[in-house]
Amino acid sequence: MRVDIVTIFPEYFGGPLETSLIGKAAQRGDIEFHVHDLRTWASDVHHTVDDVPFGGGPGMVMKPDVWGAALDDVVALASQDKGQDRDQDPPRLIVPTPSGVPFTQAMAASYTVAPRLIFACGRYEGIDSRVADEMRAQMPVDEVSVGDYVLAGGEAAVLVMVEAVGRLLPGVLGNACSTGDDSFGGGGAGGAMSGLLEGPVYTRPRTWRGHEVPEVLLSGNHAAIARWRRDMALRRTAANRPDLIGALELDARDRQVLAADGLFSG
Ligand code: 6GU
Repeated sequence: MRVDIVTIFPEYFGGPLETSLIGKAAQRGDIEFHVHDLRTWASDVHHTVDDVPFGGGPGMVMKPDVWGAALDDVVALASQDKGQDRDQDPPRLIVPTPSGVPFTQAMAASYTVAPRLIFACGRYEGIDSRVADEMRAQMPVDEVSVGDYVLAGGEAAVLVMVEAVGRLLPGVLGNACSTGDDSFGGGGAGGAMSGLLEGPVYTRPRTWRGHEVPEVLLSGNHAAIARWRRDMALRRTAANRPDLIGALELDARDRQVLAADGLFSG
């Protein structure tokens, strides 16, 4: 996969994209990052990328001419990247913004099959809205939010999305199974932990500062362990994310577990 990131802070990405799983995937060539400085496409001596908003109001808006030139060039750059089937498909443009649709695990999974992703990082009050409209004529454009809070710019959100996508790429995680029990990963549709947050986990020593590891995990009884893990995942989901409970398929035992905690009344 090829990932292009356009930003006024290219240096922001230097460390993170070279670190850990994502950095190793990049070294192997499983994922390829190209970070571009938006100011390269500014046409005046001051490299201006923003201007006052039409209609008035606080803050500044990023200029459509600068963004249009940048994205045209980045799209073309990427297609020159030799060979591979990525030439056939248009890139997907992702614009991080707190007013976008919520980023989800399902979106992360859908991005793994895109041959090319382009992230357009806005700062200030955002990018002139005609840019996304214009680009939609050429390629799929997603305006995406990473949560219900406001960041100063899209850069941190891009790191969040790149990491969520990157770790799903084939060969990126050491253990191919280890995304299966993820919170939200759910081991695929209909897996035992589908739609649940991950429950508590333990490692050695068996006793630490007087706290014991739950006995069932030492029992060797795999069915009992699986049931216990589901119980704990259910309870954690009901406590931390009651909004997710409605979408679950609950059996009689599940209802009993939640009722015992006073967490489920259906
Ligand atoms: Cl994607 N960008 C910004 N600036 N703030 C956010 C966000 C994105 N998602 C949540 N807050």
